[in-house]
Amino acid sequence: MKAVYIRESGGPEVLEVREADAPQPGPGEVLIDVVAAGLNRADVQQRRGLYPPPDGISEVPGLEVSGTVAALGPEVGESDFAVGDAVVALLAGGGYAEQVVAPVGQVLAVPEGMDITTAAALPEVTATVFSNLFISAAVRPGETVLIHGGAGGIGTMAVQLVRAFEAHAAVTAGSTEKLEVAGILGAETMINYRSHDFVEEIRNATDGRGADVILDVVGAKYLDQNVDALAVAGRLVVIGLQGGTKAELNLGKLMSKRAAIIGTTLRARPVEEKSTIMQAVGEHVWPLIRSGKVRPQVDRTYPLEDVVTAHDYFDSGEHTGKVLITMQ
Ligand SMILES: NC(=O)c1ccc[n+]([C@@H]2O[C@H](COP(=O)([O-])OP(=O)(O)OC[C@H]3O[C@@H](n4cnc5c(N)ncnc54)[C@H](OP(=O)(O)O)[C@@H]3O)[C@@H](O)[C@H]2O)c1
Repeated sequence: MKAVYIRESGGPEVLEVREADAPQPGPGEVLIDVVAAGLNRADVQQRRGLYPPPDGISEVPGLEVSGTVAALGPEVGESDFAVGDAVVALLAGGGYAEQVVAPVGQVLAVPEGMDITTAAALPEVTATVFSNLFISAAVRPGETVLIHGGAGGIGTMAVQLVRAFEAHAAVTAGSTEKLEVAGILGAETMINYRSHDFVEEIRNATDGRGADVILDVVGAKYLDQNVDALAVAGRLVVIGLQGGTKAELNLGKLMSKRAAIIGTTLRARPVEEKSTIMQAVGEHVWPLIRSGKVRPQVDRTYPLEDVVTAHDYFDSGEHTGKVLITMQ
């Protein structure tokens, strides 16, 4: 099969398509003929040499795919999936390839009515947003959620799920065009982080209360402002570190707000936890996708051979929603 390898740490040009041995499904695993794979920031960090794959995981990048079931490993019941089923899978790596194996619990059927290529945009964003906002931060109807990067892959799904679960969505983004995209998806407060102070803007939008929950992809650079932007009993969920890892925190401010800071990564979680999250996504998010209420946002799709161009585009930061590569 063809697969993408990282020749050395660096820019998009270090990615190369090579012939590789197809993986074999082990106990509890499903072999998938990949149709499309989603690009993620983690792939970029891996390419740069800053985010090595966890122990025992393929060095081929790629955390999510869509495709068809090619074979079932031992201990996978035929009641789970059959050869030929259209599926998506959340992975710890290996997705930029013509075939990949995934633990059966991390595999879901492609939602009815959705084309199989588009479905590759779903696993990482739905699992990340659902687990962080609705499990860890327990967003309740009527609360206000501030989503940093509201037009990105994570952001576009977060806006839609927040609205679908009857909470209010506020977003930051770096351009008017991106804010418009978030607005079309349901964001009610749009803040250009390049020209406006998001703390002031979120207070204005909430009668001075602040955001009940913040989904943060910036990290250190925003820590102090994020705590300022939280409402009493607010929850700050840090899932990205684009603005660095270390910052000073005024614990007094945190205590006076009775606020909580949560940090998570999805990739490093054990298979059992990721499987639980994917099953919850299947139960709570898939019906919203089937009904058309929530739609994955795909910006561009590139063939596997153009993976360098795909990463170039992703690195440019011009995209809204997801960028995919297709294998077939
Ligand atoms: N912890 C986890 O389990 C997990 C899982 C998946 C993703 N993530 C993280 O989530 C983040 C988003 O991932 P993605 O796939 O959605 O990537 P993406 O599509 O490239 O989105 C990145 C987003 O970050 C925004 N951003 C950058 N600097 C910002 C700033 N100073 N203020 C506000 N927003 C800023 C960008 O907004 P503009 O383009 O408008 O500038 C863009 O929307 C990444 O950091 C990724 O590592 C974490």
